[in-house]
Amino acid sequence: MRKKGYTLLLFVAMLLLVAAGCGKDQTGSSSNSGDGSSSDETFVLQAGHSLPDDHPYHLGFLEMADNIEERTDGRVKIEVFPNSEIGAERELTEGMTLGTVDFVVSSTAPVTNFVPELEVLDVPFVFEDRETAVEILEGEIGEDLFAKLRDNGIIGLSWAENGYRHITNGVRPIEKPADLKGLKIRTQENEIHIAAFEALGAQPTPMAWTEALTGLQQGVVDAQENPAIVADQFSLYDSKQKYMSLTGHVYSVAIYMMSEKTYDKLPEDLREIVLEEGAKAGPKQREMIIEMEQESLKKLEENGVEIISDVDIAPFQEAVEPIYSKIEHQDLLNQILDAQL
Ligand code: PAF
Repeated sequence: MRKKGYTLLLFVAMLLLVAAGCGKDQTGSSSNSGDGSSSDETFVLQAGHSLPDDHPYHLGFLEMADNIEERTDGRVKIEVFPNSEIGAERELTEGMTLGTVDFVVSSTAPVTNFVPELEVLDVPFVFEDRETAVEILEGEIGEDLFAKLRDNGIIGLSWAENGYRHITNGVRPIEKPADLKGLKIRTQENEIHIAAFEALGAQPTPMAWTEALTGLQQGVVDAQENPAIVADQFSLYDSKQKYMSLTGHVYSVAIYMMSEKTYDKLPEDLREIVLEEGAKAGPKQREMIIEMEQESLKKLEENGVEIISDVDIAPFQEAVEPIYSKIEHQDLLNQILDAQL
């Protein structure tokens, strides 16, 4: 009788253990058998980025999440967190390498701290124009860069964009490099951006975007550089930014990315759907940016920002030229330049 009781207890305990092991995960980063085979398990995954919920970064993610949820019959749900709610771009990228963040869309500048080859994309004036940049990114060079991401535990889903970066400040209109002399400018955490603004005579102060607004409001920095949509959506005119010079010094490439650790946890059939929908997010997002750019410039102007649109770019290009020879990945840089000859 006693033995029977123990056997029953043991059986119940084993049942509980098995149930816990197979439990469906609803907690964010998922769990799975990891053998790539199909199962009925559901996955609740997290996507993060640094911009508001009406920015194309977010809208692109929402569309991707909806399509994935529909095509997987609800087996993959993606929660999208805007405004650096689960981390700024550098932290989010690190999170992907560790497997604590599942998806991220970020401009390439901070990702370069993890994948050094990406430095070539943030070299000022490296792309003739947006169309040429997209052609290069969606070709062999872009594929090779995605392979470098993969070496670092990140899967590149698609190339997106942040837009052309322009300089805003609260001191004077910037029309030539000399106007930047001594200006304290917030830059992204990226060596090339820092070197570029040093070459232009400014005083670059790298910081995450999460600190930039306070930095501008408190006068820690006088200037910043970002696309018009960012300046508009963060109402930078309320942070002492009176002038925007359309320097377009960097075509700010962005990437929709996924943690390889997350990918490895998904069954084969779900992986395929996620990759397919992830590949669509970038092109769709780029279309939205182009549509919104002019409207943002108009809104900035309506809010008192003086837009300096007839900037002569040549002296800016000349001032940053010495940076080209300092790029570590010269072969890659030359490939990009040669592709535009
Ligand atoms: O300046 C930055 O840090 C980036 O351009 C931003 C605003 C986070 C968007 O990628």
